[in-house]
Amino acid sequence: MSQPAVSDVPMHLTRSTRDPEEIRSRLTAWLTEVLPDGAEPEVTLHAGIDANGMSSETVILDVTYTDDSGRRTGEYVARVAPSTTDVPVFPEYNLEHQYEAMRLAAELTEVPVPRVHWFERSGDVLGSPFFLMERIEGVVPPDVLPYTFGDNWLYDATPEQQEKLMRTSVAVLARLHAIPDAATTFAFLDPRLSGYDGRTPLARNLAKLRGWYEWATGGADETVAPSPLMERALTWLEANLPDSDEAVLVWGDARIGNMMYQDFEPTAVLDWEMATLGPRELDASWIAFAHLVFNEIAGVLELPGMPDFLTPEKVAALYEEASGVKLGDLTWYFVYNAVHWGCVFLRTGTRQIHFGEIEAPPETDAFFHHRPLFERLLNEVGA
Ligand SMILES: Nc1ncnc2c1ncn2[C@@H]1O[C@H](COP(=O)(O)OP(=O)(O)OP(=O)(O)O)[C@@H](O)[C@H]1O
Ligand SMILES: [Mg+2]
Repeated sequence: MSQPAVSDVPMHLTRSTRDPEEIRSRLTAWLTEVLPDGAEPEVTLHAGIDANGMSSETVILDVTYTDDSGRRTGEYVARVAPSTTDVPVFPEYNLEHQYEAMRLAAELTEVPVPRVHWFERSGDVLGSPFFLMERIEGVVPPDVLPYTFGDNWLYDATPEQQEKLMRTSVAVLARLHAIPDAATTFAFLDPRLSGYDGRTPLARNLAKLRGWYEWATGGADETVAPSPLMERALTWLEANLPDSDEAVLVWGDARIGNMMYQDFEPTAVLDWEMATLGPRELDASWIAFAHLVFNEIAGVLELPGMPDFLTPEKVAALYEEASGVKLGDLTWYFVYNAVHWGCVFLRTGTRQIHFGEIEAPPETDAFFHHRPLFERLLNEVGA
């Protein structure tokens, strides 16, 4: 992956303006403190990444430094916590949890989670806390424009290549879910610790989801009016909560758009901000539902999309093949996923209004890019 040098490309950190030379000198000063004496680090910044994701900032950098073997260059990515003044997507954001989840998942599995390195917790260096992780080579299924629109490496791949990507991606979930004693090892991810109560991990995740919706429509600095669709869905979810008390490590934002690939196999599993404890169906439904959302958006634009790719049936079959575990019915989880996507769209839409990029829509439900899918789903379950 060759990135243009920052001097050639204006640096654009999502939603913030920060001077690249300032960032470079601050990172250099920080690394001089963090690395052993005599390391004499030199930092080269590369262009920021805007393609995928909406809630964090990602900075690509090389660090040249001296160690026992002489002068060497390491390739890193800095994951920077979003600024709280920029209409954040999440009501709370815990970079420490992401760091720990990544560190442990990399240590405890064969899943390609990038190794995490140094953590800057104070926020004094870049204005927000961040950590450095190893930089991985690979390509990402695009979010913008969605890969389902066509004209990209995944859409244009052969059926065999797409099949391989599905199988190896679903296998990532199975491997993460197989970590023993996750409830103990990853206890810090339990939503209970953020004040969300409930008898089971799933109940606590649902309480957290409602909290997110209520914050987006009432508690945040910038809010939107309540959404009839979301309220209908949340009421139904609460009345029909599955009985599962499973607590595996749930990656959270388990989408193919949060993986990097080489030769149609994952080389990096990124984006751990939604990691939690709960039933394996949370991740399994999410990987399929994210694709349904992208397909829906393609369909709204009368594009063919990829209707046979990552279908719920395929995900369930591949999951069972990889793990030996038969998934429970995913319907409840799809409604849960739809609300989760709804919260993301509420916040990203609110942010677009805040930055003057769009006019406020006439009704809150118009924020939902997956609205037809959301409505169909609620009608199907009789919500
Ligand atoms: N360790 C890494 N090595 C190489 N590239 C990376 C690495 N981490 C992130 N990237 C690049 O940055 C992009 C965005 O990363 P990521 O999905 O972690 O954050 P995000 O999507 O911007 O944030 P969020 O989804 O939280 O809004 C990835 O698609 C990838 O291109
Ligand atoms: Mg992402």
